[in-house]
Amino acid sequence: MASAFGIIALMFLGNAGRRGNPQSKQFLYQRKGPWPQPSPTEPLGTAPEVLHLPWQEKLDWQWHIGLRYMRDVFLCSPAAAFRALRFRELPAIDDAAMADGLTRGLYSRFLAPLDPPDVATFAGAYDPTDGAVYYKMDFAPIGEVKPYDGMYVSPTVTLLRRASPTAETFEVLAIAVGAARAVLRPTDGDAWQLAKYFVLQGCSYATLFTEHPNVHFPYDTINAVTKGSIPTHHVLFRLLIPHLRFSLVLDNAVLQSSSSVISESRRTLYDPFTAAASAGLMSFFMAGYKGIPDNSAYPAYQYPSSRDELPLPPTKYGAFLRAYFEPFHAFTTAVVATIEDDEMGYCEEWARWIQTWIETFPLLPFRHVDAAERERSREKLAFALAVMLWDLTVVHSTDHLNFATDIPVEWKCFRLRVPAPTGPGATLDRRALSKKVDLFKSHLAHRMFFAPTTVTRLVDVKYGFETNALRAARNAFFEQLRAVDAGLAGQGIPRFMALDEMAASIQY
Ligand SMILES: [Fe+2]
Repeated sequence: MASAFGIIALMFLGNAGRRGNPQSKQFLYQRKGPWPQPSPTEPLGTAPEVLHLPWQEKLDWQWHIGLRYMRDVFLCSPAAAFRALRFRELPAIDDAAMADGLTRGLYSRFLAPLDPPDVATFAGAYDPTDGAVYYKMDFAPIGEVKPYDGMYVSPTVTLLRRASPTAETFEVLAIAVGAARAVLRPTDGDAWQLAKYFVLQGCSYATLFTEHPNVHFPYDTINAVTKGSIPTHHVLFRLLIPHLRFSLVLDNAVLQSSSSVISESRRTLYDPFTAAASAGLMSFFMAGYKGIPDNSAYPAYQYPSSRDELPLPPTKYGAFLRAYFEPFHAFTTAVVATIEDDEMGYCEEWARWIQTWIETFPLLPFRHVDAAERERSREKLAFALAVMLWDLTVVHSTDHLNFATDIPVEWKCFRLRVPAPTGPGATLDRRALSKKVDLFKSHLAHRMFFAPTTVTRLVDVKYGFETNALRAARNAFFEQLRAVDAGLAGQGIPRFMALDEMAASIQY
């Protein structure tokens, strides 16, 4: 009898860990899914990564995106080869065209105020008292890159003048080249012309490895924590899940796959870069995430908590992105207002987990605070969600389209085969700057990785909302997005991307 009792007791004890407190809520992957962890490449300097991925997500990505990469290698290579075979020399770059290319779109993100060392470097090259606004574009991190034999990189700092804070045109006044910061002016002939290619090279690498990673990778943490901690019936889950598809596997492929466009060898057809991933390219990632002290061009990554903190350039490109933010914020505010108080506990925990990994993400105290603090947490949640959804859709899609189509492939200068000038007196042979193979890889990478390749569109998103209030909020959201798209011209803002072309998630 005693032994039978013991066996029954053991059965209960054996089940205690597994079956005690059975969950009444449904969770994706039974709450055993993806979760953030430190980057295996740069754990102290880059965003956390999500390394262990559900097979369902890998299969989904492989079917919709991985197969396309394989197809594009074959289908796009002939066109890239045709264009490369016709390549003779990099184009001459006119000063006004250069200024326009640097400031009309995505590259205007690099406009930064001058720091004291820049003021000293460019002393004599400008008049700081003439009432104009002066900016720099600083591509210091490329100095850490160790290029393949026969290729060259150089840090540059470019000085730009803008007649007023809202003037549409800029003027490129000077370029400081190399670690020694040799200052070149437009009157410096071939040395000046040559320096401009290195500025464009800096723009390309800084776009792909400094600016764009912050659009992608911090959101992997939110993606994984949402899947791992929010019940599938929860309004927060319903709101986010259409915008989380493909991204974890894509980002993992970019950062960890041996067939990534950022490669450790030169064996892929499509890697257009000038160095292996471990030969300094990570310095760009770290400059963008960890920041560079005392350099205003490289602040540490910060999750925006107010409109002033949205990463927007002071140009029409920034105005375009900014115009789309309000519909997202109105939508997330309406959605958050419908979350029941007892369901907000999940949001509080969700934010706490995220903040473990993204330290500037807001905490959302709710269960043990007064009504005013609860309201404040709802406001912070709505803002954080608006930032995220706006980033994953409008910002990410537009950045890709602008990089791929507004800046010609011949202006990317991923590989330059002539050293940067060290002062006035250099000579320029534009035929020697790049080879046909460099252009082939660059054209192919544009088709495969840089140009938008949308699988699911923002305008097609269905949220699976179950109440009329939420469905009405969704409809109002899309009406407001349409109004922004239609109203850009009236505000004098270029339509950098059509709303109908924007993707629902980070999927390229
Ligand atoms: Fe991307």
